[in-house]
Amino acid sequence: MNSNSASSTSINSFQEENQQAASMGSEEEETPRKQHFRTNFQRKLLHLLIFTNLVTIAVFTATTFRLSSNGDILHHEDSASRLLQELNSTKSQLLASDSLVADLHQKINSTNLLVQALLVELERQHDSSLAVDKEADVFSVLPSSLSDEVKFSVFPHKLPLGYSPRADSDVLYPPIGAACLRFPEELSRYLTYEIGGECPVDDVFAQKLILRGCEPLPRRRCHPKSPVGYVEPTPFPDSLWSIPSDSSIIWDPYTCKNYNCLINRDKLPGIYDCKDCFNLQGREKARWLFDRGLDYGIEQVLQTKPAGSIRIGLDIGGGSGTFAARMRERNITIITTSMNLDGPFNSFIASRGLIPMHVSISQRLPFFENTLDIVHSMHVLSNWIPDGMLELTLYDIYRVLRPGGLFWLDHFFCQGSQLNQTYAPMFDRVGFKRLRWNTGKKVDRGVEKNEWYFSALLEKPMT
Ligand SMILES: *[C@@H]1O[C@H](CO)[C@@H](O)[C@H](O)[C@H]1NC(C)=O
Ligand SMILES: *[C@@H]1O[C@H](CO)[C@@H](O)[C@H](O)[C@H]1NC(C)=O
Ligand SMILES: *[C@@H]1O[C@H](CO)[C@@H](O)[C@H](O)[C@H]1NC(C)=O
Ligand SMILES: *[C@@H]1O[C@H](CO)[C@@H](O)[C@H](O)[C@H]1NC(C)=O
Repeated sequence: MNSNSASSTSINSFQEENQQAASMGSEEEETPRKQHFRTNFQRKLLHLLIFTNLVTIAVFTATTFRLSSNGDILHHEDSASRLLQELNSTKSQLLASDSLVADLHQKINSTNLLVQALLVELERQHDSSLAVDKEADVFSVLPSSLSDEVKFSVFPHKLPLGYSPRADSDVLYPPIGAACLRFPEELSRYLTYEIGGECPVDDVFAQKLILRGCEPLPRRRCHPKSPVGYVEPTPFPDSLWSIPSDSSIIWDPYTCKNYNCLINRDKLPGIYDCKDCFNLQGREKARWLFDRGLDYGIEQVLQTKPAGSIRIGLDIGGGSGTFAARMRERNITIITTSMNLDGPFNSFIASRGLIPMHVSISQRLPFFENTLDIVHSMHVLSNWIPDGMLELTLYDIYRVLRPGGLFWLDHFFCQGSQLNQTYAPMFDRVGFKRLRWNTGKKVDRGVEKNEWYFSALLEKPMT
């Protein structure tokens, strides 16, 4: 049966699609299932064959039976000629049966073709329905009982003016980090609130989602809690070095409940991110004013370029914003990215009259290619970042820097063995040119730990 092998191939691919739609089928169980399906089909064909053969036999036996019953009443003398006649008629009936069998064969053949065509058609229909399924598939990780607000924030919205050639689409998808879909319960929780009312104070929870890669978070239709007794910010430029009023923010998400606590945190035991960053009269005040070893001075860095040619830039993980403040004093505009890790870093940067941006290092930088004069980053880019992710970040920095733009890597921390084996080659590989490169042993946790820092001033080549 040639046609059988042909149809079983199409059945197999049909079956594969079926399993994809059912989704959870692993590679291991695919093969036995396929085989089962094929044997099933073969068995059905066999049944069909046996059935048609039985029909043929039935036709035969009916004729034979009629013949033999006639034979019982034959007279002795005519028996020979009658027998001959009977034989003759049997012969012709046999011929008729033969053509009947051929006819049946042909019918089986055409049935086979019909089944084949049907399967091809089924497969085609299945494929086209899958295109729709695939869309739903992206969201299939979410619980089936999605709240209306989750659907509103995550599902596509139809463009009111119809198809847009610019977008090459007639729907608009609300942006949301793909990783968010991996945390359906958290996503549902984040999108549970009273529409038009006050948002839950869930900063810590929301930031955890961001730090897991659920970035951007979906947008919400609620108002953030507003501080009671808000006072206007300190006028610029005094704001650059002023501590804002305690009533300018909501303190619920933080261990400290006022700025005094944050300022004095550097004198307390315990590990906090950017522990001494809120004390603007302490170590913060002198940062980047001097040039020695791993510490480069802003003045010295700017001098590597024609005067005034560094105008705009980005500070990745800029703590309380002091780098941007120092640059602002030189009429250079710096946007500072920061997380609010147990401290109101974004609010504090804003209170200084600087631009904060709440994005993690995983996020594609929201700047166009070849636009920024300088990118700075201190302590944040380090060996805690997976190598692959770091390489993506470095390429992204390269992307947004203009030709001749500067990437100032400030105190990158790593193990001694990683420095020459992993990181130095990676920075070269991305394509930066080294203007300065300094390494230094980090000794605060003991020399034997072989921990190192390196600082570098890198340049995006002109062409
Ligand atoms: C058998 O039948 C055919 C026609 O069906 C006829 O020509 C022939 O003479 C017959 N032979 C005998 C022996 O009856
Ligand atoms: C049935 O189809 C096969 C090929 O598909 C062909 O070789 C065979 O002759 C056909 N049989 C009949 C009775 O039509
Ligand atoms: C910054 O710009 C202002 C206004 O253009 C100017 O008066 C001031 O001298 C500039 N400061 C520096 C350090 O270039
Ligand atoms: C890295 O390599 C340089 C030579 O290219 C060497 O001087 C330096 O000691 C090495 N650093 C570490 C930490 O192994």
